[in-house]
Amino acid sequence: MRVVLLGPPGAGKGTQAERIKDKFRLTRIATGDLLRETVRRGTSLGRQAQDFMLRGRLVPDRVILALMRDKIREGVSGFILDGFPRSITQAEKLDKLLEAENKKLDLVINLEVNHNEMISRLKGRVICPECGRTYNKDEFVDQPLICKDCGTHLSQRSDDNPDAIEERLKVYLRHTLPLVDYYKGKGILRSISGKGSPQGVFQRIVDLLYSPGSIGI
Ligand code: AP5
Repeated sequence: MRVVLLGPPGAGKGTQAERIKDKFRLTRIATGDLLRETVRRGTSLGRQAQDFMLRGRLVPDRVILALMRDKIREGVSGFILDGFPRSITQAEKLDKLLEAENKKLDLVINLEVNHNEMISRLKGRVICPECGRTYNKDEFVDQPLICKDCGTHLSQRSDDNPDAIEERLKVYLRHTLPLVDYYKGKGILRSISGKGSPQGVFQRIVDLLYSPGSIGI
């Protein structure tokens, strides 16, 4: 199956994409993670992306598409996309890439969370700079912020500061939210609440994927 996870910053796309990947044995393709890795490696694409990311703006399409083209083709038999597409232009490019492989998207899951919840999640997020695992600071009451997988000190993401968060929300409303209607028009959008525990949200996604007439898994 080929699935897209949509939602505003902090909706839990990364958290849920990881679980969906494991349960349904899909390739997870996350543009934010790919970009952060490219920046870490100091490649030319990474240098072009870094400034846009720090300011919470969309990285230019030519950079994103250079990064995504091969990933989509490699994972075409089954993937979960997290953070792509993020605009109508990117959605149209994705459709074309899939058409060239005689494939199409099966489902777009739209995670809905309210504004206050988004802000509190983004402010509380800490990540492992080594393995990329994501946590919320609340998980570490009276404990050092150390990754439970690899023991590395956790840190905040450089774009989880108030200015960049505000800009990311504006960018979401202007460029990404129109995708809800785009995919509704194609009949493949399902919206679910992103509120509640990560496991509770995941259960809603699993129920959706197994529901009759969903995508036939
Ligand atoms: P990206 O990394 O994709 O950031 P984002 O879309 O802003 O999404 P986030 O990663 O902030 O949130 P998320 O929904 O994944 O939430 P998470 O699961 O981490 O992109 C970063 C930047 O890269 C962009 O700003 C842009 O510059 C660039 N970029 C990326 N893709 C691009 C594209 N296609 N085109 C152009 N530019 C692009 O959860 C957040 C926190 O909440 C965590 O701490 C988590 O533990 C916690 N949490 C999750 N679920 C729950 C829950 N149910 N209850 C309580 N806490 C929860």
